[in-house]
Amino acid sequence: MDFCAGIGGGRAGLENLGMQCVGFSEINKDAEKTYREFFGQEEKNYGDLTKINPDDLPNFDLMIAGFPCQTFSVVGKRKGMKDRRGQIIFDLIDIMKGKNLKYFILENVKGLLNHGTGESMKIILDELDKAGYKVFWKLISSLNYGVPQMRERIYFVGVRKDLIKNNKPFEFPNTVKTPELKNYLVDTNEIESKEKKRIYESFLKYLENKYNKGKFSVEELLKEDFLVIDTRQSDLRLYRGKVPTLRVGRHGVLYIRDGKFRKLSGYESLLLQGFSKRLSNKVKNKISDIYLLSQAGNAMTVNVVETFGKSFLNYINSCQKQEQEEKNRSYWGLTPQRVDFKMKGMS
Ligand SMILES: C[S@@+](CC[C@H](N)C(=O)[O-])C[C@H]1O[C@@H](n2cnc3c(N)ncnc32)[C@H](O)[C@@H]1O
Repeated sequence: MDFCAGIGGGRAGLENLGMQCVGFSEINKDAEKTYREFFGQEEKNYGDLTKINPDDLPNFDLMIAGFPCQTFSVVGKRKGMKDRRGQIIFDLIDIMKGKNLKYFILENVKGLLNHGTGESMKIILDELDKAGYKVFWKLISSLNYGVPQMRERIYFVGVRKDLIKNNKPFEFPNTVKTPELKNYLVDTNEIESKEKKRIYESFLKYLENKYNKGKFSVEELLKEDFLVIDTRQSDLRLYRGKVPTLRVGRHGVLYIRDGKFRKLSGYESLLLQGFSKRLSNKVKNKISDIYLLSQAGNAMTVNVVETFGKSFLNYINSCQKQEQEEKNRSYWGLTPQRVDFKMKGMS
């Protein structure tokens, strides 16, 4: 089940692995609209998770949740655990306990690692441990897991302790080669000429500010196809082969294509978060870029969840297999050594 669902980046990754989602929980109406376009209008939203009674939820094996990051984020106010939004993790843990949940995948921003000099992370890991879960976590960059976007996020994988066999650790998979950026900057929608003029004029002004004056020429920049230009800071930042982290408030990413400036579109930002063209096309020209850019900025990267989700499934299967083998052995009253011996003797 998908909690703090946003637009369902995590869900899309798990569905790519053949998993089935039984419901979601999301309080933002705009995100819900996009989510329904992606996954179906008939989906059930269980609403505010702080008010959910676990008994009212359907049964499910795995929880996926990118719990709110404002209070943990380095860009946020650093109020952390004292702010209610930083405590949603505790409501999630209540749901885990209420459902005697088997597995979970959680996601948060990198800032959690040193928030409160590491105290917040420690509290979260302790609480999950007390709730009966073995937790494995890793700081992962989307750049190393299948999309050309710099995006570092902490991913947690949790397994109810009684389901782990022989203390078997979960290992996050190896990184993969970053795909080519040009395959993501593909929007064919023409920017309105008024908008184009506005972007161009504000960009020229920007080049003239005290940080950038004399450093760049428009002609030079326009020569390099797929050069990415971030205008978030006063100083101009250029990226090649990748885009900076998509964020809720970051709508100023420009790039060059065919000798012209283009603004990163909502459709392209979805692709850069690993949403398939099939899903992204469902909202293109239907939901405005202002929403899509923010929503993509909040999402989990589909490829990241799919990549380590696959390893997680293998891990779960191997624990289940081991459990089944142990059951079979105790049924026949054999110790593992005897089985080995017998098999060798038979061949
Ligand atoms: C960081 S975003 C996660 C996005 C999501 N993982 C995705 O792939 O799009 C956190 C989401 O949690 C939602 N949220 C915050 N408080 C919530 C609550 N009490 N109940 C349900 N959702 C909540 C926010 O509206 C936001 O969409």
